[in-house]
Amino acid sequence: MLIHISEIIKEGREKKFALGAFNTFNLESTLGIAGAAEEKKAAAILQVSEATISYAGLKAITHIVKTVAKNQARKARIALHLDHGKKFLSVVECIKAGFSSVMMDAADLPFDENVALTKKAVDYAHKHKVWAQGELGKIVKEPLEIEELRRNPEKFLTDPDLAREFVRKTNVDTLAVSIGNVHGFYKMKNGAPHLFLNHLKEIREKVNVPLVLHGASGISVEETKKARELGVQIVNIDTEIRMTFRESLSRSLAEAGANGEFDPRKILEPSIKAIKELVKRKIGDFGQ
Ligand code: G3H
Ligand code: 13P
Ligand code: ZN
Repeated sequence: MLIHISEIIKEGREKKFALGAFNTFNLESTLGIAGAAEEKKAAAILQVSEATISYAGLKAITHIVKTVAKNQARKARIALHLDHGKKFLSVVECIKAGFSSVMMDAADLPFDENVALTKKAVDYAHKHKVWAQGELGKIVKEPLEIEELRRNPEKFLTDPDLAREFVRKTNVDTLAVSIGNVHGFYKMKNGAPHLFLNHLKEIREKVNVPLVLHGASGISVEETKKARELGVQIVNIDTEIRMTFRESLSRSLAEAGANGEFDPRKILEPSIKAIKELVKRKIGDFGQ
């Protein structure tokens, strides 16, 4: 079923698990993620990025997630979230489409501008009873930035005092933090940087909204567990879903080439199953 994010955050806090926030990009990934939540009778966030909205169309992807959650995942509790909204307009449109949570990602802007844009999004969201996530510190993705983070992490990490000020001034419901975590595929080949757990602890001491760990693909189960114990309540996974989809599809296409299969449903079905298995494992890793 589709549910407001506040309800599953509350459930997570009470039962001491972190919510997996899984990026979906089409029908197959939605069936895989929602199917995993259903089999585990679990709570999960399904999130879409602006790039997915451009690819699939906001109405189409929203209807896919809502309909699958309602009809094919009745025992699961699923919240729909906008991931990395860079434009205020995306926040507005997703709220109008029925998301219960949106992210205003203004982390590239100077602190005061980040505060101003995030506050505008939070105010709009709260007027519509929707939760809003902000980001402070830089969660990098590009290889050169990741190497720079390994050398000079302090350039990128969320400052605990600024985090307190940011939460106070914006009133965000959840906060994405930079604690050594990085986005994307590069780290999967070159080793995910370690999390600065003492830094996370300092942030936790100053901020009491649920913290969000972005870039969690490739982070070990043990580190994620420690992060959970230090206040991380949402763990974002995208890259591992994409890799799983691609690997399964490549195998399927190779087999189809060999045996003459040309029914796209038969070719795509293994990808749904592979994503489902991955997400079931992640939901378990995050404590459900
Ligand atoms: O952190 C970013 C997410 O992985 C979304 O990526 O904008 O390519 O969909 P995307
Ligand atoms: P990864 O792609 O590194 O798993 O990060 C996901 C994410 O943070 C989505 O916002
Ligand atoms: Zn992210």
